[in-house]
Amino acid sequence: MSEMNIPPATAPRRFRSQDWFDNPDHIDMTALYLERFMNYGITAEELRSGRPIIGIAQSGSDISPCNRIHLDLAKRVRDGIRDAGGIPMEFPLHPIFENCRRPTAALDRNLAYLGLVEILHGYPIDAVVLTTGCDKTTPAQLMAAATVDIPAIVLSGGPMLDGWMDGELVGSGAAIWKGRRQLSAGLIDNDKFLQIAAASAPSAGHCNTMGTASTMNALAEALGMSLTGCSAIPAPYRERGQIAYETGRRIVALAHDDVRPSSILTRAAFLDAIIVNAAIGGSTNAQPHLMAMARHAGVELHSSDWMAHGYDVPLLLNMQPAGKYLGERFHRAGGVPAIMWELQQAGLLHANRPTVTGKTMAENLAGQETNDREMIRPFAEPLKEKAGFLALQGNLFDFAIMKTSVISPAFRERYLSRPGSEGIFEARAIVFDGSSDYHARINDPALNIDDSCMLVMRGAGPVGWPGSAEVVNMQPPDALLKAGIQNLPTLGDGRQSGTSDSPSILNASPESAVGGGLALLRTGDLIRVNLQEGRCDMLVDEAELARRARELPPPVVETATPWQEIYRASVGQLETGACMELALKYRAVGQTLPRH
Ligand code: FES
Ligand code: MG
Repeated sequence: MSEMNIPPATAPRRFRSQDWFDNPDHIDMTALYLERFMNYGITAEELRSGRPIIGIAQSGSDISPCNRIHLDLAKRVRDGIRDAGGIPMEFPLHPIFENCRRPTAALDRNLAYLGLVEILHGYPIDAVVLTTGCDKTTPAQLMAAATVDIPAIVLSGGPMLDGWMDGELVGSGAAIWKGRRQLSAGLIDNDKFLQIAAASAPSAGHCNTMGTASTMNALAEALGMSLTGCSAIPAPYRERGQIAYETGRRIVALAHDDVRPSSILTRAAFLDAIIVNAAIGGSTNAQPHLMAMARHAGVELHSSDWMAHGYDVPLLLNMQPAGKYLGERFHRAGGVPAIMWELQQAGLLHANRPTVTGKTMAENLAGQETNDREMIRPFAEPLKEKAGFLALQGNLFDFAIMKTSVISPAFRERYLSRPGSEGIFEARAIVFDGSSDYHARINDPALNIDDSCMLVMRGAGPVGWPGSAEVVNMQPPDALLKAGIQNLPTLGDGRQSGTSDSPSILNASPESAVGGGLALLRTGDLIRVNLQEGRCDMLVDEAELARRARELPPPVVETATPWQEIYRASVGQLETGACMELALKYRAVGQTLPRH
Protein backbone atom coordinates (compact mmCIF):
# COMPACT_ATOMS: atom_id res chain seq x y z
CA MET A 1 0.00 0.00 0.00
CA SER A 2 2.80 2.42 0.86
CA GLU A 3 4.15 2.69 -2.68
CA MET A 4 0.83 3.96 -3.97
CA ASN A 5 1.18 6.79 -6.49
CA ILE A 6 0.21 10.19 -5.24
CA PRO A 7 -2.18 11.69 -7.76
CA PRO A 8 -1.28 15.13 -9.13
CA ALA A 9 -2.84 18.10 -7.35
CA THR A 10 -4.59 19.12 -10.52
CA ALA A 11 -6.70 16.26 -11.72
CA PRO A 12 -8.04 15.67 -15.19
CA ARG A 13 -11.43 14.87 -13.75
CA ARG A 14 -13.93 17.54 -12.76
CA PHE A 15 -15.26 16.83 -9.29
CA ARG A 16 -18.75 17.58 -8.06
CA SER A 17 -17.32 20.03 -5.51
CA GLN A 18 -16.13 22.23 -8.38
CA ASP A 19 -19.75 23.00 -9.15
CA TRP A 20 -19.68 24.85 -5.83
CA PHE A 21 -16.17 26.31 -5.80
CA ASP A 22 -15.25 26.81 -9.43
CA ASN A 23 -18.41 27.66 -11.33
CA PRO A 24 -17.94 30.51 -13.86
CA ASP A 25 -21.66 30.53 -14.65
CA HIS A 26 -22.46 31.25 -11.01
CA ILE A 27 -19.59 33.34 -9.68
CA ASP A 28 -22.09 34.98 -7.31
CA MET A 29 -22.81 31.64 -5.69
CA THR A 30 -19.19 30.46 -5.87
CA ALA A 31 -18.15 33.56 -3.90
CA LEU A 32 -20.76 32.77 -1.28
CA TYR A 33 -19.69 29.12 -1.02
CA LEU A 34 -16.01 30.01 -0.74
CA GLU A 35 -16.08 32.85 1.75
CA ARG A 36 -17.06 30.98 4.91
CA PHE A 37 -14.72 28.04 4.44
CA MET A 38 -11.90 30.59 4.33
CA ASN A 39 -12.81 31.77 7.84
CA TYR A 40 -10.87 28.90 9.37
CA GLY A 41 -7.89 29.26 7.14
CA ILE A 42 -8.59 27.25 4.01
CA THR A 43 -7.59 29.28 0.96
CA ALA A 44 -9.66 29.88 -2.13
CA GLU A 45 -6.73 28.50 -4.14
CA GLU A 46 -6.95 25.15 -2.38
CA LEU A 47 -10.67 24.89 -2.87
CA ARG A 48 -10.36 25.92 -6.54
CA SER A 49 -7.37 23.73 -7.32
CA GLY A 50 -9.41 20.89 -8.75
CA ARG A 51 -8.45 18.53 -5.93
CA PRO A 52 -11.15 16.25 -4.52
CA ILE A 53 -12.85 17.24 -1.30
CA ILE A 54 -12.87 14.15 0.91
CA GLY A 55 -15.52 13.91 3.61
CA ILE A 56 -14.72 12.13 6.85
CA ALA A 57 -17.98 10.97 8.42
CA GLN A 58 -17.03 11.19 12.09
CA SER A 59 -18.92 8.63 14.16
CA GLY A 60 -16.95 9.15 17.38
CA SER A 61 -18.02 11.38 20.26
CA ASP A 62 -18.28 11.34 24.03
CA ILE A 63 -21.66 9.61 23.74
CA SER A 64 -20.32 7.09 21.20
CA PRO A 65 -17.49 5.55 23.25
CA CYS A 66 -17.15 2.48 21.01
CA ASN A 67 -16.19 4.82 18.15
CA ARG A 68 -14.38 7.51 20.14
CA ILE A 69 -10.99 6.34 18.80
CA HIS A 70 -11.99 7.93 15.49
CA LEU A 71 -11.52 11.39 17.01
CA ASP A 72 -7.80 10.53 17.06
CA LEU A 73 -7.70 8.40 13.92
CA ALA A 74 -9.19 11.23 11.86
CA LYS A 75 -5.87 13.07 12.22
CA ARG A 76 -4.06 10.23 10.44
CA VAL A 77 -6.85 10.02 7.84
CA ARG A 78 -6.37 13.74 7.16
CA ASP A 79 -2.61 13.23 6.83
CA GLY A 80 -3.20 10.52 4.25
CA ILE A 81 -5.74 12.59 2.32
CA ARG A 82 -3.40 15.61 2.23
CA ASP A 83 -0.37 13.56 1.23
CA ALA A 84 -2.34 12.09 -1.66
CA GLY A 85 -3.51 15.50 -2.82
CA GLY A 86 -7.03 15.68 -1.42
CA ILE A 87 -8.69 18.16 0.91
CA PRO A 88 -10.27 16.64 4.06
CA MET A 89 -13.53 17.90 5.54
CA GLU A 90 -14.68 16.16 8.70
CA PHE A 91 -18.31 16.27 9.79
CA PRO A 92 -20.40 14.48 12.42
CA LEU A 93 -22.57 11.43 11.93
CA HIS A 94 -25.66 11.10 14.13
CA PRO A 95 -24.38 9.11 17.15
CA ILE A 96 -25.28 5.43 17.49
CA PHE A 97 -24.30 3.83 20.79
CA GLU A 98 -25.65 0.34 21.12
CA ASN A 99 -25.64 -0.14 24.89
CA CYS A 100 -26.90 3.17 26.14
CA ARG A 101 -29.48 4.47 23.70
CA ARG A 102 -33.07 4.01 24.89
CA PRO A 103 -35.35 2.53 23.80
CA THR A 104 -32.89 1.08 21.25
CA ALA A 105 -30.00 2.15 19.01
CA ALA A 106 -31.85 0.46 16.15
CA LEU A 107 -33.80 3.71 15.76
CA ASP A 108 -30.51 5.48 15.06
CA ARG A 109 -29.35 3.27 12.19
CA ASN A 110 -31.97 4.61 9.81
CA LEU A 111 -31.71 8.15 11.24
CA ALA A 112 -27.93 8.27 10.74
CA TYR A 113 -28.47 6.79 7.29
CA LEU A 114 -30.90 9.55 6.34
CA GLY A 115 -28.64 12.25 7.80
CA LEU A 116 -25.56 11.01 5.96
CA VAL A 117 -27.45 10.78 2.66
CA GLU A 118 -28.48 14.43 3.04
CA ILE A 119 -24.92 15.56 3.85
CA LEU A 120 -23.31 13.66 0.98
CA HIS A 121 -25.97 14.86 -1.44
CA GLY A 122 -26.17 18.49 -0.38
CA TYR A 123 -22.56 19.47 0.40
CA PRO A 124 -19.50 19.76 -1.86
CA ILE A 125 -18.08 16.33 -1.06
CA ASP A 126 -16.51 14.17 -3.76
CA ALA A 127 -15.71 11.02 -1.81
CA VAL A 128 -16.06 9.87 1.79
CA VAL A 129 -14.29 7.94 4.52
CA LEU A 130 -16.82 6.05 6.64
CA THR A 131 -15.60 5.68 10.24
CA THR A 132 -17.20 2.52 11.56
CA GLY A 133 -17.20 0.66 14.87
CA CYS A 134 -20.19 0.06 17.13
CA ASP A 135 -22.82 -2.27 15.69
CA LYS A 136 -25.05 -0.10 13.52
CA THR A 137 -22.49 2.55 12.64
CA THR A 138 -21.25 0.25 9.87
CA PRO A 139 -24.52 -0.59 8.12
CA ALA A 140 -25.89 2.95 8.54
CA GLN A 141 -22.94 4.42 6.65
CA LEU A 142 -22.73 1.71 4.00
CA MET A 143 -26.47 2.06 3.37
CA ALA A 144 -25.91 5.79 2.80
CA ALA A 145 -22.87 5.20 0.58
CA ALA A 146 -25.01 2.83 -1.50
CA THR A 147 -27.81 5.38 -1.86
CA VAL A 148 -25.49 8.28 -2.71
CA ASP A 149 -22.99 6.26 -4.77
CA ILE A 150 -19.97 8.52 -4.56
CA PRO A 151 -16.55 6.90 -3.90
CA ALA A 152 -16.43 5.61 -0.32
CA ILE A 153 -14.14 3.58 1.89
CA VAL A 154 -14.62 2.05 5.34
CA LEU A 155 -12.18 2.72 8.18
CA SER A 156 -12.96 0.50 11.15
CA GLY A 157 -12.09 1.84 14.59
CA GLY A 158 -11.13 -1.63 15.75
CA PRO A 159 -11.98 -3.69 18.82
CA MET A 160 -10.84 -3.06 22.38
CA LEU A 161 -7.89 -5.01 23.75
CA ASP A 162 -8.71 -8.43 25.18
CA GLY A 163 -10.27 -8.34 28.65
CA TRP A 164 -8.88 -10.46 31.50
CA MET A 165 -10.23 -11.27 34.96
CA ASP A 166 -8.84 -13.77 37.47
CA GLY A 167 -6.59 -15.23 34.78
CA GLU A 168 -9.42 -15.78 32.30
CA LEU A 169 -10.46 -13.99 29.13
CA VAL A 170 -13.59 -11.91 29.60
CA GLY A 171 -15.24 -10.66 26.43
CA SER A 172 -17.41 -7.56 26.21
CA GLY A 173 -21.11 -8.31 26.18
CA ALA A 174 -20.52 -12.03 26.68
CA ALA A 175 -19.22 -11.30 30.20
CA ILE A 176 -22.36 -9.28 30.94
CA TRP A 177 -24.74 -12.07 29.89
CA LYS A 178 -22.78 -14.60 31.95
CA GLY A 179 -22.45 -12.20 34.90
CA ARG A 180 -26.20 -11.58 34.93
CA ARG A 181 -26.88 -15.29 35.15
CA GLN A 182 -24.30 -15.68 37.95
CA LEU A 183 -25.86 -12.75 39.82
CA SER A 184 -29.35 -14.21 39.51
CA ALA A 185 -28.06 -17.59 40.67
CA GLY A 186 -26.46 -15.91 43.72
CA LEU A 187 -22.91 -16.85 42.69
CA ILE A 188 -21.53 -13.28 42.60
CA ASP A 189 -22.51 -9.95 44.19
CA ASN A 190 -23.14 -6.55 42.58
CA ASP A 191 -19.56 -5.32 43.11
CA LYS A 192 -18.07 -8.38 41.46
CA PHE A 193 -20.49 -7.99 38.56
CA LEU A 194 -19.31 -4.40 37.97
CA GLN A 195 -15.66 -5.50 38.21
CA ILE A 196 -16.24 -8.14 35.54
CA ALA A 197 -17.96 -5.55 33.32
CA ALA A 198 -14.99 -3.15 33.65
CA ALA A 199 -12.45 -5.92 33.01
CA SER A 200 -14.21 -6.88 29.79
CA ALA A 201 -13.70 -3.36 28.38
CA PRO A 202 -10.03 -2.51 29.01
CA SER A 203 -9.34 0.12 26.33
CA ALA A 204 -10.73 2.31 23.58
CA GLY A 205 -12.47 0.39 20.81
CA HIS A 206 -15.65 -1.51 20.06
CA CYS A 207 -16.67 -4.91 21.49
CA ASN A 208 -13.75 -7.37 21.48
CA THR A 209 -16.02 -10.39 20.95
CA MET A 210 -17.48 -11.47 17.60
CA GLY A 211 -20.59 -9.48 18.44
CA THR A 212 -22.38 -7.26 16.00
CA ALA A 213 -19.60 -4.65 15.86
CA SER A 214 -16.78 -7.05 14.94
CA THR A 215 -19.19 -8.88 12.65
CA MET A 216 -20.28 -5.83 10.69
CA ASN A 217 -16.74 -4.51 10.33
CA ALA A 218 -15.61 -7.95 9.16
CA LEU A 219 -18.43 -8.01 6.62
CA ALA A 220 -17.60 -4.51 5.37
CA GLU A 221 -14.12 -5.86 4.67
CA ALA A 222 -15.53 -9.04 3.11
CA LEU A 223 -17.71 -6.91 0.84
CA GLY A 224 -14.57 -5.21 -0.39
CA MET A 225 -15.24 -1.80 1.15
CA SER A 226 -12.12 -1.48 3.36
CA LEU A 227 -8.39 -2.01 2.96
CA THR A 228 -7.24 -5.60 3.44
CA GLY A 229 -6.94 -6.57 7.12
CA CYS A 230 -8.58 -3.37 8.33
CA SER A 231 -11.43 -4.64 10.46
CA ALA A 232 -9.65 -6.74 13.10
CA ILE A 233 -6.78 -4.42 14.12
CA PRO A 234 -7.39 -3.50 17.79
CA ALA A 235 -8.12 0.19 18.28
CA PRO A 236 -4.99 1.01 20.36
CA TYR A 237 -2.49 -0.83 18.11
CA ARG A 238 0.00 1.18 16.03
CA GLU A 239 -1.29 -0.55 12.90
CA ARG A 240 -4.66 1.09 13.48
CA GLY A 241 -3.21 4.58 13.03
CA GLN A 242 -1.19 3.35 10.08
CA ILE A 243 -4.18 1.91 8.25
CA ALA A 244 -6.08 5.15 8.98
CA TYR A 245 -3.32 6.96 7.08
CA GLU A 246 -3.40 4.46 4.20
CA THR A 247 -7.19 4.68 4.07
CA GLY A 248 -6.92 8.47 3.72
CA ARG A 249 -4.47 8.06 0.85
CA ARG A 250 -6.54 5.41 -0.85
CA ILE A 251 -9.82 7.35 -0.87
CA VAL A 252 -8.15 10.12 -2.90
CA ALA A 253 -7.23 7.59 -5.59
CA LEU A 254 -10.77 6.21 -5.50
CA ALA A 255 -12.09 9.75 -6.03
CA HIS A 256 -9.81 10.30 -9.05
CA ASP A 257 -10.71 6.92 -10.53
CA ASP A 258 -14.41 7.41 -9.69
CA VAL A 259 -14.64 3.97 -8.10
CA ARG A 260 -18.13 3.95 -6.64
CA PRO A 261 -19.83 1.62 -4.16
CA SER A 262 -22.12 0.36 -6.92
CA SER A 263 -19.14 -1.33 -8.61
CA ILE A 264 -18.19 -3.13 -5.38
CA LEU A 265 -21.50 -3.86 -3.63
CA THR A 266 -22.62 -6.60 -6.01
CA ARG A 267 -24.65 -9.74 -5.37
CA ALA A 268 -21.39 -11.75 -5.43
CA ALA A 269 -20.01 -9.52 -2.67
CA PHE A 270 -23.12 -9.98 -0.51
CA LEU A 271 -23.10 -13.75 -0.96
CA ASP A 272 -19.46 -13.81 0.17
CA ALA A 273 -20.44 -11.73 3.20
CA ILE A 274 -23.10 -14.32 4.11
CA ILE A 275 -20.48 -17.08 3.79
CA VAL A 276 -17.91 -15.21 5.88
CA ASN A 277 -20.54 -14.48 8.53
CA ALA A 278 -21.12 -18.20 9.05
CA ALA A 279 -17.39 -18.99 9.17
CA ILE A 280 -16.72 -16.34 11.86
CA GLY A 281 -19.81 -17.23 13.95
CA GLY A 282 -21.12 -13.75 13.21
CA SER A 283 -24.01 -11.90 14.79
CA THR A 284 -27.64 -12.57 13.93
CA ASN A 285 -27.89 -8.82 13.36
CA ALA A 286 -25.92 -9.34 10.16
CA GLN A 287 -29.13 -10.66 8.61
CA PRO A 288 -31.16 -7.42 8.66
CA HIS A 289 -28.10 -5.20 8.19
CA LEU A 290 -26.79 -7.01 5.09
CA MET A 291 -30.28 -7.10 3.68
CA ALA A 292 -30.66 -3.35 4.21
CA MET A 293 -27.31 -2.57 2.58
CA ALA A 294 -28.14 -4.80 -0.39
CA ARG A 295 -31.55 -3.24 -0.90
CA HIS A 296 -30.15 0.30 -0.81
CA ALA A 297 -27.50 -0.82 -3.31
CA GLY A 298 -30.23 -2.19 -5.56
CA VAL A 299 -28.86 -5.72 -5.23
CA GLU A 300 -31.23 -8.69 -5.27
CA LEU A 301 -30.70 -10.49 -1.99
CA HIS A 302 -33.36 -12.83 -0.62
CA SER A 303 -34.01 -14.12 2.85
CA SER A 304 -33.59 -17.60 1.35
CA ASP A 305 -29.94 -16.75 0.51
CA TRP A 306 -29.02 -17.23 4.17
CA MET A 307 -29.92 -20.92 4.01
CA ALA A 308 -28.86 -21.46 0.40
CA HIS A 309 -25.38 -19.97 0.77
CA GLY A 310 -24.64 -19.70 4.49
CA TYR A 311 -26.10 -22.65 6.38
CA ASP A 312 -23.65 -25.34 5.23
CA VAL A 313 -20.57 -23.21 5.92
CA PRO A 314 -18.50 -24.47 8.88
CA LEU A 315 -17.38 -22.39 11.87
CA LEU A 316 -13.66 -21.66 11.44
CA LEU A 317 -13.03 -18.87 13.95
CA ASN A 318 -12.51 -19.69 17.63
CA MET A 319 -13.80 -16.41 19.04
CA GLN A 320 -16.47 -15.64 21.65
CA PRO A 321 -19.44 -16.06 21.76
CA ALA A 322 -19.29 -19.17 19.51
CA GLY A 323 -15.69 -19.97 20.56
CA LYS A 324 -13.04 -19.11 23.17
CA TYR A 325 -10.84 -16.17 22.25
CA LEU A 326 -11.08 -12.43 21.58
CA GLY A 327 -10.13 -9.76 19.07
CA GLU A 328 -6.40 -9.37 19.66
CA ARG A 329 -5.77 -13.01 18.84
CA PHE A 330 -8.03 -12.78 15.79
CA HIS A 331 -5.94 -9.91 14.46
CA ARG A 332 -2.67 -11.73 15.16
CA ALA A 333 -4.06 -14.85 13.47
CA GLY A 334 -4.58 -12.88 10.27
CA GLY A 335 -8.07 -11.44 10.72
CA VAL A 336 -10.69 -11.53 7.98
CA PRO A 337 -8.24 -12.18 5.10
CA ALA A 338 -7.09 -15.42 6.80
CA ILE A 339 -10.70 -16.58 7.17
CA MET A 340 -11.45 -15.70 3.57
CA TRP A 341 -8.25 -17.41 2.40
CA GLU A 342 -9.59 -20.62 3.92
CA LEU A 343 -12.97 -20.19 2.24
CA GLN A 344 -11.33 -19.28 -1.06
CA GLN A 345 -9.19 -22.44 -0.99
CA ALA A 346 -12.35 -24.45 -0.41
CA GLY A 347 -13.86 -22.88 -3.51
CA LEU A 348 -16.70 -21.16 -1.67
CA LEU A 349 -16.11 -17.51 -2.51
CA HIS A 350 -16.92 -15.37 -5.53
CA ALA A 351 -13.62 -13.56 -5.16
CA ASN A 352 -12.99 -12.30 -8.68
CA ARG A 353 -14.69 -9.04 -7.92
CA PRO A 354 -13.46 -5.50 -7.40
CA THR A 355 -12.63 -4.00 -4.02
CA VAL A 356 -11.54 -0.58 -2.81
CA THR A 357 -7.90 -1.68 -2.86
CA GLY A 358 -7.99 -1.52 -6.65
CA LYS A 359 -7.34 -5.25 -6.78
CA THR A 360 -9.80 -8.13 -6.83
CA MET A 361 -10.71 -9.84 -3.58
CA ALA A 362 -8.84 -12.93 -4.82
CA GLU A 363 -5.70 -10.82 -5.25
CA ASN A 364 -6.15 -9.31 -1.79
CA LEU A 365 -6.30 -12.82 -0.30
CA ALA A 366 -3.10 -14.15 -1.86
CA GLY A 367 -0.70 -15.41 0.79
CA GLN A 368 -3.06 -14.70 3.70
CA GLU A 369 -3.04 -18.18 5.29
CA THR A 370 -3.07 -18.09 9.10
CA ASN A 371 -0.25 -19.37 11.27
CA ASP A 372 -2.54 -19.85 14.29
CA ARG A 373 -4.59 -23.01 13.83
CA GLU A 374 -6.00 -22.82 17.34
CA MET A 375 -7.72 -19.56 16.36
CA ILE A 376 -8.55 -20.17 12.70
CA ARG A 377 -9.26 -23.78 11.84
CA PRO A 378 -8.55 -25.41 8.50
CA PHE A 379 -11.70 -25.71 6.41
CA ALA A 380 -11.50 -29.51 6.62
CA GLU A 381 -11.30 -29.50 10.44
CA PRO A 382 -13.74 -26.82 11.59
CA LEU A 383 -14.97 -26.07 15.11
CA LYS A 384 -18.51 -26.92 13.95
CA GLU A 385 -20.07 -28.15 10.73
CA LYS A 386 -23.07 -26.29 9.26
CA ALA A 387 -22.61 -23.13 11.33
CA GLY A 388 -24.80 -20.71 9.37
CA PHE A 389 -28.20 -19.37 10.31
CA LEU A 390 -31.10 -21.74 10.11
CA ALA A 391 -34.16 -20.06 8.59
CA LEU A 392 -37.54 -21.09 10.03
CA GLN A 393 -41.15 -20.51 9.07
CA GLY A 394 -44.58 -21.62 10.23
CA ASN A 395 -47.88 -20.27 11.55
CA LEU A 396 -46.10 -17.96 14.03
CA PHE A 397 -44.10 -16.10 11.38
CA ASP A 398 -43.02 -16.27 7.75
CA PHE A 399 -39.33 -15.91 8.57
CA ALA A 400 -37.06 -16.15 11.58
CA ILE A 401 -33.48 -17.26 12.11
CA MET A 402 -31.58 -19.33 14.61
CA LYS A 403 -27.82 -19.07 15.13
CA THR A 404 -26.73 -22.68 15.19
CA SER A 405 -23.05 -22.01 16.01
CA VAL A 406 -23.92 -21.08 19.61
CA ILE A 407 -26.04 -24.14 20.44
CA SER A 408 -24.34 -25.57 23.53
CA PRO A 409 -23.87 -29.32 24.07
CA ALA A 410 -26.25 -29.11 27.06
CA PHE A 411 -28.95 -27.41 24.98
CA ARG A 412 -28.50 -29.87 22.14
CA GLU A 413 -28.70 -32.78 24.57
CA ARG A 414 -31.88 -31.50 26.26
CA TYR A 415 -33.88 -30.37 23.23
CA LEU A 416 -32.44 -31.59 19.96
CA SER A 417 -31.17 -35.12 20.55
CA ARG A 418 -34.27 -37.20 21.16
CA PRO A 419 -33.62 -40.55 19.42
CA GLY A 420 -35.75 -40.83 16.30
CA SER A 421 -36.72 -37.17 16.32
CA GLU A 422 -33.46 -35.23 16.28
CA GLY A 423 -33.92 -31.50 15.93
CA ILE A 424 -37.59 -31.69 16.94
CA PHE A 425 -39.06 -30.59 20.26
CA GLU A 426 -42.25 -29.19 21.73
CA ALA A 427 -42.39 -26.54 24.45
CA ARG A 428 -45.05 -24.70 26.45
CA ALA A 429 -45.11 -21.00 25.55
CA ILE A 430 -44.63 -18.32 28.21
CA VAL A 431 -45.52 -15.10 26.42
CA PHE A 432 -44.20 -11.63 27.35
CA ASP A 433 -45.34 -8.35 25.81
CA GLY A 434 -42.11 -6.35 25.90
CA SER A 435 -39.19 -6.49 28.30
CA SER A 436 -40.95 -4.66 31.19
CA ASP A 437 -43.52 -7.45 31.21
CA TYR A 438 -40.69 -10.02 31.16
CA HIS A 439 -38.85 -8.41 34.09
CA ALA A 440 -42.06 -8.04 36.09
CA ARG A 441 -43.16 -11.65 35.71
CA ILE A 442 -40.23 -13.95 34.92
CA ASN A 443 -39.84 -15.00 38.56
CA ASP A 444 -43.59 -15.30 39.20
CA PRO A 445 -44.13 -18.83 40.61
CA ALA A 446 -47.64 -18.87 39.09
CA LEU A 447 -46.10 -19.21 35.61
CA ASN A 448 -44.64 -22.53 36.71
CA ILE A 449 -41.69 -22.24 34.34
CA ASP A 450 -39.58 -25.36 33.94
CA ASP A 451 -37.29 -26.74 31.27
CA SER A 452 -40.26 -27.77 29.12
CA CYS A 453 -41.06 -24.08 28.49
CA MET A 454 -40.15 -21.66 25.73
CA LEU A 455 -39.87 -17.95 26.59
CA VAL A 456 -41.54 -15.80 23.94
CA MET A 457 -40.99 -12.05 23.50
CA ARG A 458 -43.28 -10.00 21.31
CA GLY A 459 -43.78 -6.29 20.76
CA ALA A 460 -40.04 -6.09 20.15
CA GLY A 461 -39.97 -5.66 16.36
CA PRO A 462 -39.31 -2.54 14.29
CA VAL A 463 -42.86 -1.17 14.63
CA GLY A 464 -43.70 -2.57 18.05
CA TRP A 465 -40.70 -1.48 20.12
CA PRO A 466 -40.22 0.80 18.06
CA GLY A 467 -36.86 0.09 16.42
CA SER A 468 -36.59 -3.64 17.23
CA ALA A 469 -34.77 -4.47 20.43
CA GLU A 470 -32.09 -6.94 21.50
CA VAL A 471 -34.30 -8.61 24.07
CA VAL A 472 -35.05 -12.09 22.77
CA ASN A 473 -32.12 -13.70 24.62
CA MET A 474 -34.15 -13.87 27.85
CA GLN A 475 -32.54 -15.66 30.75
CA PRO A 476 -34.49 -18.31 32.68
CA PRO A 477 -36.07 -17.57 36.09
CA ASP A 478 -33.65 -17.37 39.03
CA ALA A 479 -34.85 -20.70 40.40
CA LEU A 480 -33.88 -22.52 37.20
CA LEU A 481 -30.50 -20.77 37.07
CA LYS A 482 -29.86 -21.88 40.65
CA ALA A 483 -30.70 -25.41 39.52
CA GLY A 484 -28.06 -25.13 36.79
CA ILE A 485 -30.27 -24.52 33.75
CA GLN A 486 -28.49 -21.77 31.81
CA ASN A 487 -30.72 -21.51 28.75
CA LEU A 488 -34.34 -22.12 27.85
CA PRO A 489 -35.48 -22.01 24.23
CA THR A 490 -36.54 -18.47 23.36
CA LEU A 491 -38.43 -16.97 20.47
CA GLY A 492 -39.34 -13.43 19.51
CA ASP A 493 -39.99 -10.70 16.99
CA GLY A 494 -37.04 -8.69 18.30
CA ARG A 495 -33.33 -9.27 17.92
CA GLN A 496 -30.63 -10.34 20.33
CA SER A 497 -27.18 -9.07 21.11
CA GLY A 498 -24.48 -10.39 18.82
CA THR A 499 -22.43 -11.18 21.91
CA SER A 500 -25.10 -13.51 23.30
CA ASP A 501 -24.66 -17.28 23.24
CA SER A 502 -28.39 -17.93 23.27
CA PRO A 503 -29.70 -20.18 20.46
CA SER A 504 -32.85 -18.07 20.17
CA ILE A 505 -35.34 -18.05 17.33
CA LEU A 506 -35.40 -14.38 16.49
CA ASN A 507 -36.02 -11.58 14.00
CA ALA A 508 -39.47 -13.16 13.53
CA SER A 509 -41.25 -11.43 10.66
CA PRO A 510 -43.90 -10.20 10.38
CA GLU A 511 -43.83 -8.98 13.98
CA SER A 512 -46.84 -9.17 16.27
CA ALA A 513 -47.45 -5.39 16.11
CA VAL A 514 -48.30 -5.63 12.40
CA GLY A 515 -50.49 -8.72 12.80
CA GLY A 516 -47.94 -11.54 12.63
CA GLY A 517 -48.91 -14.95 14.00
CA LEU A 518 -47.14 -14.23 17.29
CA ALA A 519 -50.01 -11.87 18.15
CA LEU A 520 -52.32 -14.90 18.39
CA LEU A 521 -50.11 -16.92 20.73
CA ARG A 522 -51.19 -17.38 24.36
CA THR A 523 -49.25 -18.54 27.42
CA GLY A 524 -49.75 -22.28 27.76
CA ASP A 525 -49.92 -23.02 24.03
CA LEU A 526 -47.63 -25.73 22.75
CA ILE A 527 -45.00 -24.70 20.20
CA ARG A 528 -43.42 -27.31 17.97
CA VAL A 529 -39.95 -26.66 16.56
CA ASN A 530 -38.70 -28.85 13.73
CA LEU A 531 -35.20 -27.88 12.72
CA GLN A 532 -35.03 -30.66 10.13
CA GLU A 533 -37.86 -29.09 8.18
CA GLY A 534 -37.15 -25.49 9.20
CA ARG A 535 -40.54 -25.09 10.85
CA CYS A 536 -41.88 -23.52 14.02
CA ASP A 537 -45.63 -23.69 14.71
CA MET A 538 -48.07 -23.12 17.53
CA LEU A 539 -50.21 -26.23 17.95
CA VAL A 540 -53.52 -24.40 18.02
CA ASP A 541 -56.39 -25.27 15.70
CA GLU A 542 -57.68 -22.95 13.00
CA ALA A 543 -61.04 -22.26 14.67
CA GLU A 544 -59.34 -21.16 17.87
CA LEU A 545 -56.88 -18.97 15.94
CA ALA A 546 -59.82 -17.37 14.10
CA ARG A 547 -61.53 -16.69 17.44
CA ARG A 548 -58.38 -15.09 18.86
CA ALA A 549 -57.97 -12.96 15.76
CA ARG A 550 -61.23 -11.21 16.76
CA GLU A 551 -59.87 -10.35 20.22
CA LEU A 552 -57.91 -7.21 21.01
CA PRO A 553 -54.35 -7.34 19.67
CA PRO A 554 -51.42 -7.31 22.14
CA PRO A 555 -50.61 -3.86 23.58
CA VAL A 556 -48.09 -1.64 21.76
CA VAL A 557 -46.18 1.14 23.53
CA GLU A 558 -46.90 4.75 22.67
CA THR A 559 -44.82 6.72 20.21
CA ALA A 560 -42.56 9.03 22.23
CA THR A 561 -40.76 11.29 19.70
CA PRO A 562 -41.33 12.75 16.23
CA TRP A 563 -38.69 10.46 14.72
CA GLN A 564 -40.36 7.40 16.21
CA GLU A 565 -43.57 8.40 14.45
CA ILE A 566 -41.86 8.82 11.08
CA TYR A 567 -39.93 5.59 11.64
CA ARG A 568 -43.03 3.57 12.51
CA ALA A 569 -44.85 4.86 9.45
CA SER A 570 -42.15 3.81 6.99
CA VAL A 571 -40.10 0.97 8.47
CA GLY A 572 -40.25 -2.55 7.03
CA GLN A 573 -39.72 -5.88 8.77
CA LEU A 574 -36.46 -7.48 9.94
CA GLU A 575 -36.70 -10.11 7.21
CA THR A 576 -36.16 -7.39 4.62
CA GLY A 577 -33.72 -5.29 6.62
CA ALA A 578 -36.01 -2.93 8.57
CA CYS A 579 -35.34 -0.22 5.99
CA MET A 580 -37.22 3.01 5.54
CA GLU A 581 -39.23 1.61 2.66
CA LEU A 582 -39.75 5.00 1.05
CA ALA A 583 -35.97 5.46 0.79
CA LEU A 584 -35.39 2.44 -1.43
CA LYS A 585 -36.43 4.10 -4.68
CA TYR A 586 -33.59 6.67 -4.40
CA ARG A 587 -30.41 5.60 -6.19
CA ALA A 588 -27.09 7.32 -6.87
CA VAL A 589 -28.34 10.64 -5.51
CA GLY A 590 -24.76 11.94 -5.41
CA GLN A 591 -24.51 11.62 -9.18
CA THR A 592 -26.94 14.47 -9.70
CA LEU A 593 -26.06 17.94 -8.44
CA PRO A 594 -28.60 19.65 -6.24
CA ARG A 595 -29.72 23.09 -7.40
CA HIS A 596 -28.29 26.20 -5.76
FE1 FES B 1 -20.69 -0.62 20.90
FE2 FES B 1 -20.46 -3.36 21.39
S1 FES B 1 -21.66 -1.83 22.41
S2 FES B 1 -19.48 -2.11 19.98
MG1 MG C 1 -25.69 -5.29 20.03
